[in-house]
Amino acid sequence: MDRRSHWENVYHTKSATDVSWFEAEPTTSLSLIQSIAPGGRIIDVGGGASLLVDCLIAVGTWEVTVLDVSAAALELAQTRLQERAHRVKWIQADITEVQQLGTYDIWHDRAVFHFLTSLDDRAAYLAQLRRALRPGGYVVFGTFALDGPEKCSGLPVCRYDARSLAATLGADYSLVKKLEHSHPTPGGTTQRFTFAVFRRAV
Ligand SMILES: C[S@@+](CC[C@H](N)C(=O)[O-])C[C@H]1O[C@@H](n2cnc3c(N)ncnc32)[C@H](O)[C@@H]1O
Repeated sequence: MDRRSHWENVYHTKSATDVSWFEAEPTTSLSLIQSIAPGGRIIDVGGGASLLVDCLIAVGTWEVTVLDVSAAALELAQTRLQERAHRVKWIQADITEVQQLGTYDIWHDRAVFHFLTSLDDRAAYLAQLRRALRPGGYVVFGTFALDGPEKCSGLPVCRYDARSLAATLGADYSLVKKLEHSHPTPGGTTQRFTFAVFRRAV
């Protein structure tokens, strides 16, 4: 099954609130984003049906784009937001392939980058990041930690700490903040995450 079919199938067959990555309140992402800036242009890469977009548009100072490979995931978020969905730019695309992403002050990725297990996919993602994030902009990553799960949604993942994320991003990005987070899943287990904020050199 290709990547898009995999994720469309997930969102068509499971409730958005039952998937292991569901958060009723995306507090870690939100507090990291708000510690960077009070507003600006932000993209949630692989945002899926996450409630982060609801929180950001409620603040009123963010220009929000949500990108996801699954149209079904984006439709779930749009249906939930009702008329507020018009305040968001929605992009259905694979982040390793998309053209014309626009320019952003903040790039947020929770639980997406870690699915890129091939060098080629990571290189395509990082090239995309470089095109879309303005110099001086920030990347907020949430990935499975070194002691996190080896798979998610039946797919293998790469696990990271802040040091290996920094090595993957390269010398143009400097680590601003890092934290380890235990995510309680709807199924009652706990997943260990690494969160890290990097600033792109000006
Ligand atoms: C584990 S979920 C995380 C969703 C969301 N970030 C959150 O924190 O709730 C991974 C999401 O990334 C999307 N995704 C996976 N690979 C992708 C890719 N290459 N490009 C864009 N989206 C992708 C999936 O459709 C799914 O919505």
